[in-house]
Parts: sequence; structure tokens; C-alpha cells
Amino acid sequence: MLKNDMLEQWDRENFFHPSTHLAEFARGTLPQRVIKTGDGCHIEDREGNRLLDAFAGLYCVNVGYGRKEIAEAIAEQAHELAYYHSYVGHGTEVSITLAKMILDRAPEHMSKVYFGLSGSDANETNVKLIWYYNNILGRPEKKKIISRWRGYHGSGLVTGSLTGLELFHKKFDLPLAQVVHTEAPYYFRRDDLGQSEADFVAHCVAELEALIEREGAETIAAFIGEPVLGTGGIVPPPEGYWAAIQQVLDKHDILLVADEVVTGFGRLGTMFGSDHYGMKPDLITIAKGLTSAYAPLSGSIVSDRMWQVLEQGTDENGPIGHGWTYSAHPIGAAAGVANLKLLDTMGLVMNAGETGAYFNKVMGEALGDHAHVGDIRGAGMLCAVEFVQDRERRSFFDAGDKVGPRVAAALLEQGVIGRAMPQGDILGFAPPFCLTPAEADEVAEKTATAVAQVLG
Ligand SMILES: Cc1ncc(COP(=O)(O)O)c(C=O)c1O
Repeated sequence: MLKNDMLEQWDRENFFHPSTHLAEFARGTLPQRVIKTGDGCHIEDREGNRLLDAFAGLYCVNVGYGRKEIAEAIAEQAHELAYYHSYVGHGTEVSITLAKMILDRAPEHMSKVYFGLSGSDANETNVKLIWYYNNILGRPEKKKIISRWRGYHGSGLVTGSLTGLELFHKKFDLPLAQVVHTEAPYYFRRDDLGQSEADFVAHCVAELEALIEREGAETIAAFIGEPVLGTGGIVPPPEGYWAAIQQVLDKHDILLVADEVVTGFGRLGTMFGSDHYGMKPDLITIAKGLTSAYAPLSGSIVSDRMWQVLEQGTDENGPIGHGWTYSAHPIGAAAGVANLKLLDTMGLVMNAGETGAYFNKVMGEALGDHAHVGDIRGAGMLCAVEFVQDRERRSFFDAGDKVGPRVAAALLEQGVIGRAMPQGDILGFAPPFCLTPAEADEVAEKTATAVAQVLG
């Protein structure tokens, strides 16, 4: 095909890119990259550069690029039936099948799945269901949602409020009043460097208890958290964190939403992060890994105890007033069915656990001794490297020095994509589950080179 030489200009003139410095992009000072194709862990741009995508897009292309099985399932579904809605008891063979496959894989106490299109809209659904639930139970004042600083739950109005990152609030008049934030379980960034991990967990619990006390348990409906903090820095929780938090929530009759948009369907080496950490959520948010991003699809998995109340609500009030035109879209559902089958046939969840552990090990070996690497942490196929100015004192670089973005850019120069996380000098990795040990070695070696180039 003849190359369209206008494309890059069209991009600057017409395309509103999300999460982008709009002015720099329009002026041409922010580079653009147009991606053309991909296979396995690699993508190729229109200039022919082949890149190892160690962030799987936005931690979503979990089965890897170019999987024909999913492409063909999508095409077949488009030919047979591109669309029908799922309102008033309608459905399609493929969306019903996918709901069954999800419930077969979800924790046992989960009951139904509502389908959306993005992680943001799934969390929006969750908040509505939580409010509805408490209205049906006759406790209209129990509505606030507790989220954590550094949590990421989307960028809508409610979900952007749940997100605990400054960039997503500033100048948007967020967070909304119904959302309150508590301490992030981020041991590396504890205030008191002498604090043990167990003491830090006790501190997180005390902070939560104090918040509940301040607000009044009768006003708090739910707590939302990612099993492993994602966009806020890729931070696995300290030992015992979830068990301790769950106890507090149970005591105050507060629902738990496990936002598994990143961890769902295998990223930690288990089907769900809730299994991995022994969480007992009332709602589970799923998106990215459900289709490996071959088509947009998300979901809210609802527990038995919530489902009973939702049924009661419709007996009392009529049909549930919630739904999108594209809920359970058959093209997304076809991608989901094919994706979940592929995870099984290729043994990818196991690989995420095993090669993920290897990847974390070689990252530790390649970078652990560097004077400006303060922390290397991970779980399953997730890894983060956090940079510090001084290791002993754990002092951080000035945000204006842009250390994280500069290391990510140096790594990209060598053909590897990592992600400079938005708050702190943290380089994140979340490769596709099909990463091989040789590819893990390549990412580790090239990251060490990039760090040496930027920080000496
Ligand atoms: C944990 C988590 N929840 C929700 C979302 C929002 O998903 P989406 O970008 O599909 O709206 C994300 C996106 O990165 C996420 O990481």
C-alpha cells in the first residue's frame, strides 16, 4: 500500500489524544508514533521500527499481538451477527457463553456479570449498583466510597474521583464529594523509614479506621482497591494487607470492590488477584485482560449477596434503570470467548506466574546495585523500578528532572517499551503473558543500559 504522507499532519491537526500534553503535541514538540502491526510481544510502527512492548499496550494485550484465533472469532461473529442488544432479557449466544466462562473462573461466591465497554464504565456501574443496593436496604445515607491515594479506577466523573492521582483531579473539579481517600499501601514510600512491614500494615488499618470514624460508618458504602496498585506505581501490597483491610470492612458492613482491570485473567499468575490475596469482594471490575484488548469489553461481576438485593429491588421498583446500547456487544464477547480459550490452550496464566517470576529476578539482578535504583518490586507479570536521588536517605528526584520519562525514552531508543508511571520516577513493566525468558533477559539488559545512560 502506498504510504499516506499526510497522515502525521492529519494526526497533529485532527486527533485529540488522551493522556497527552495537547499543546506540545499540536506544536510538534511531542513525538508521535503510528503503530502498524504486531506479533507476540512485538509491535511495528509505520517507519518499520520493531519494538518489544514490555507494557502490553496499556497492560492489556495479555495474550500478545497477532493472535489469529481471536481475529477469526471476531470476523465470524461480525458475519453472523454484528450486533444485537441485551436489554429486556435479550442476548446473543456468544455473550451468554462468555458470562458462563467468566463465572466458571471467578471466585465461587460471585453470581452474575454485567457487561460494559471500558474499565471506567464498569466502575461507574459498580458505584451505581452500590448506591442502589443501599437504597433497597433502606440505608440511603450509606453512600460514600473509600478509595486509596494512588489507586486508578478510570477517568470519568465518579471513576476519576475514585482515582487517587493528582493529574486526574487537578482543574477538573474532582474528586466528587461522595469519594474519600485513604493511605496507599506503599511500603517503600512509608513516612517512617524505620517502620517494619507489619507496622506499616497496622498504620494503613489505623488510617482506614480513623477515616471511617470521622465520616461515620453509617455513611460509607464501599471500599475500592486494585489487588496490586497499578498506574499509581505498580505496588504489590505489604504482607497481610488485604486480610487486615477485609476485617475492618466486614466489621463496618462496608462492601469491597476489587478492581481487577489489570490483575483479572491471569496477570499475577492466578486467574484473579482476589484469589492471589484471599480477598472476598462483593464486586469485581474486569476489562483489559477479558479480551486482551482485541475488542472493547468490560464487566462488573456481582456477588451472591448483592445479587439477592438487586433482584429484590426490581421486584419493588421495576426493571433496573441501567444499561448501555453496547452492553455485551457480540463482537467484544466473541473476542472474550476466544481470548479465554487461548489463555487456557497456551497455558498463559501459568507462564505469567513463572516467566513473570523470572522477569522480576533478572530485573533485580540487572538493576539492584545501581545507586539510583531505590526499589524493584513486582508480582506475576508486573514489575516496577523506582528511582531515587539517594538510596540511604530514600530522597527523590525533583519531578521537573523527569528522570522516569527520560529513562523510558532511552529504553525506547533501544527498541523496548516500558512506561514512565505518572506519579514519581517509576518505570513500569507489564509484558504480555507470552514473554519468553530470552525476551525477559533483553528487557532487563536494555533497562540497565538505559538507566546507565541517564543516571550514570
Ligand atoms: C485498575 C484499573 N481500573 C480501571 C481502569 C480504567 O479502564 P479504562 O481505561 O478501560 O476505562 C484502568 C485503566 O488503566 C485500571 O488500570
